[in-house]
Amino acid sequence: MSVTVFETKEVQELLKAAANLNGGNGNARFQQVVHRLLGDLFKAIDDLDITPDEVWAGVNYLNKLGQDGEAALLAAGLGLEKYLDIRMDAQDKAVGLDGGTPRTIEGPLYVAGAPVRDGLSKIDLDEDAGAGPLVIRGTVKGTDGKPVANAVVECWHANSNGFYSHFDPTGAQTDFNLRGAVKTGADGKYEFRTLMPVGYGCPPQGATQQLLDGLGRHGNRPAHVHFFVTSGDHRKLTTQFNIEGDPLIWDDFAYATREELIPHVVEKTGGAALGLKTDAYKHIEFDFTLTPLLQGRDNQIVQRQRAAAEATATA
Ligand SMILES: [Fe+2]
Repeated sequence: MSVTVFETKEVQELLKAAANLNGGNGNARFQQVVHRLLGDLFKAIDDLDITPDEVWAGVNYLNKLGQDGEAALLAAGLGLEKYLDIRMDAQDKAVGLDGGTPRTIEGPLYVAGAPVRDGLSKIDLDEDAGAGPLVIRGTVKGTDGKPVANAVVECWHANSNGFYSHFDPTGAQTDFNLRGAVKTGADGKYEFRTLMPVGYGCPPQGATQQLLDGLGRHGNRPAHVHFFVTSGDHRKLTTQFNIEGDPLIWDDFAYATREELIPHVVEKTGGAALGLKTDAYKHIEFDFTLTPLLQGRDNQIVQRQRAAAEATATA
């Protein structure tokens, strides 16, 4: 039989005690957030008559999520990361900031420490028989259209199996394969010579896929390439583009696709002269427009736990 206890004095006092609200010590902001989130959970249990069996299934799920190290992946899959983007877009709009390349989610698979090259970096360090060559290049600009010098464009993407180096369960890739960083010169230009990625899929036995299965959802992304673009005089841009033609472009489990982030893929020849593994290659031209600092500061720097590795001398 369904009962309603959330509004009772006993439950409200329990919530305050559990969050140590107004307790005099602890972090006041943390207490405020925990009190609210716990309260929302308690209320949901009341409203939906969530059973003890269901609650304990959820608690056990959190254990599996932690064991699998997939909390950040689940955040992407449940749209939490997209929601943060929607909020940042709205904040930009509220202060009249527009004209930049749209942001989209970072995802959990960045690795800090890629070697920084001037203007151009060839980032396919490991053999990948299943992938053809891809050149990505463009210009980093400000909203005034002028090129930005000394910007650093960082790029990371999956291989032809949909696996990212450093996180590849097969162990087949070195730490910075398909990851790189390029510093722009006075012309603002950057270029990556790499291989065509394939879309990522959640680990099939992992906690994220388990939850998605329960929702009747898939855990796949279209082929895409991630970028950070940083420059001291502009706000950091976190974005990605999708590979045009991928059938999942508008069915991305992480909701990262945006209309402006699907550049044309152009077939070219002349790859041999560029040091690519075949003469025919794919070419993507993609310019980045950075937005100015807000009152002298970059409000786009997001602190989160990220992997890091050290580049070897030859990488
Ligand atoms: Fe990704």
